[in-house]
Amino acid sequence: MIDIAVLASGTGTNLAALLDLPEVREHICLVVSDRADAGALDLARRAGIPARVVQFGDFPDRRSFSLAVADAVEQAGAKGVVLAGFMRILSPEFCDRFPGRILNIHPSLLPRFPGARAVEAALEAGVEVTGVTVHFVDEQVDHGPVIRQEEVPVFPDDDADTLHQRIKTVEHRIYPEVVAQFVSGRLRLDGDRVVTA
Ligand code: GRF
Repeated sequence: MIDIAVLASGTGTNLAALLDLPEVREHICLVVSDRADAGALDLARRAGIPARVVQFGDFPDRRSFSLAVADAVEQAGAKGVVLAGFMRILSPEFCDRFPGRILNIHPSLLPRFPGARAVEAALEAGVEVTGVTVHFVDEQVDHGPVIRQEEVPVFPDDDADTLHQRIKTVEHRIYPEVVAQFVSGRLRLDGDRVVTA
């Protein structure tokens, strides 16, 4: 069994979906946000899970910020990290502390549309299909071995909000399933290979 820390900057709807699944919830030992006003922190507190704020501006550079987040994760006893809308790039040193044990969810079919504007970029590109990617994190942004992808249609009258909502409906279904596999030890990384039991 692998205890995890969830890192989130925003409203935390993915965190809420994770908390809804008991076999995941019981393994979340910390929620970390870089923003003191993140809805994710309230969700954690209401669930009785320790919540920490680590603010980027309190550190001289990305490396020391990332190491502070890593320290918080380790102090909580977490062995894995689940990114759920964490809007800060973590340094390579962070990845080194949790090798093969960091998961991310991204609102596109990677490698298409990495970055913070994935939903807008899909609309601007005029694609008819975008989607969701869950992947292990490596040292590049929105990059690493893919665990699961699912397509989401783009409709002609979509704006970023309607499309993101449709994408999130899929996220809320598949992320808890994948994280449940991970915390139970049924999902791991062997080199670059995703292994499921
Ligand atoms: C999600 O779309 C996720 O894919 C992306 O950030 C968003 C977080 O949304 N990485 P929420 O805070 O979980 O509602």
